[in-house]
Amino acid sequence: MKILAIETSCDETAIAFVECSGGLRAPYVRVLSNLVASQVAVHAPWGGVVPMLAKREHIKNLPEVFGNLNISRLKVNLLAVTVGPGLEPALWAGIEFAKNLQKKLTTNNKRQTTKLLGVNHLEGHLYSFLLSPKLTNLSTYKLKNLFPAVALIVSGGHTILLRVDSLTKWKKLGETRDDAVGEAFDKVARILGLPYPGGPEIEKFAANGNPDAIPFPRPMLHSKDYDFSFSGLKTAVLYYTREKGQKIKEKGARADVAASFQAAAIDVLAAKTERAVREIGARSILLSGGVAANAALRHRLSVVSRRLSVTFIVPPIHFNTDNATMIAVAAYLTHLRKKRYPLRANGTLGI
Ligand code: KG4
Ligand code: ZN
Repeated sequence: MKILAIETSCDETAIAFVECSGGLRAPYVRVLSNLVASQVAVHAPWGGVVPMLAKREHIKNLPEVFGNLNISRLKVNLLAVTVGPGLEPALWAGIEFAKNLQKKLTTNNKRQTTKLLGVNHLEGHLYSFLLSPKLTNLSTYKLKNLFPAVALIVSGGHTILLRVDSLTKWKKLGETRDDAVGEAFDKVARILGLPYPGGPEIEKFAANGNPDAIPFPRPMLHSKDYDFSFSGLKTAVLYYTREKGQKIKEKGARADVAASFQAAAIDVLAAKTERAVREIGARSILLSGGVAANAALRHRLSVVSRRLSVTFIVPPIHFNTDNATMIAVAAYLTHLRKKRYPLRANGTLGI
């Protein structure tokens, strides 16, 4: 099944053309084209994503990105578009484009209407583990051996821990009660005067800092549930930097703050994931979302996995941050599950 997927939930205009096969027992993904037009430069002066600017840029970028695909030679079996969660004006840009495209594809091929499917962005992140190189050869790697799994989705809008029993069944264990961890990275970067998006900047600075330099709090580390909270950690960084005054401008001082903040956030994520794996008796950890691009987090969870003798799966970095290939994969699974989402922007759609 050839799937054309469109993703515009935040500040990346992404279109992918992907071939999926194998069904629910052994899904196989072949990426034919994965295109992303980033809006970082447009939002950077504002220090964060401005929803109406994002919408304007998506409307401008979508035809350009689509033009690069050379659609006349492509045969699309399924058209897919993210319907939520995300910024509603941005989501609408993708949905309207997809609806028009559906009409065009149908006019081009009168005998067949191309189906248009709404996709949940969080399911995109969840299913992105199928894009890991470890899973490309399913004959040597039995999918069912991964379940039950513990999935950690860490992005700019979400921090969610799930118990995953199969490709069609999962249960939320916990989530953040305030800021998402990616949001905390972005806000701490801003406090330190680093540009947007902050996550990669914090990671770069942290590489030259001492993670033990400042004992920032580990919020909810010992709480009995699987919830998270990152707003207190962000505030602790704010107070610390205020106290330091001008001294914080020194490169070494900022590196220490970045490293100590990153260590605190990763400690909590890793500890809760580890406890979930132990309690469930999980056989794998599935890490996804933009913050999963962070090498220190990937490393920590790979160490945890080895210690617990479970499989660690994380997609390549370009499939962690927002992309349309993961939306195509989720569309394939949505189609197989016979699940339908209304073709309306839903900013707060859950998983
Ligand atoms: O999944 P994503 O691209 O968009 C959302 O669905 O939110 O995640 C974006 C988030 C941003 O907060 C960004 O700062 C963070 O992921 N991020 C990182 C890194 N790369 C992106 N955070 C920490 N380290 C990184 N290397
Ligand atoms: Zn995302």
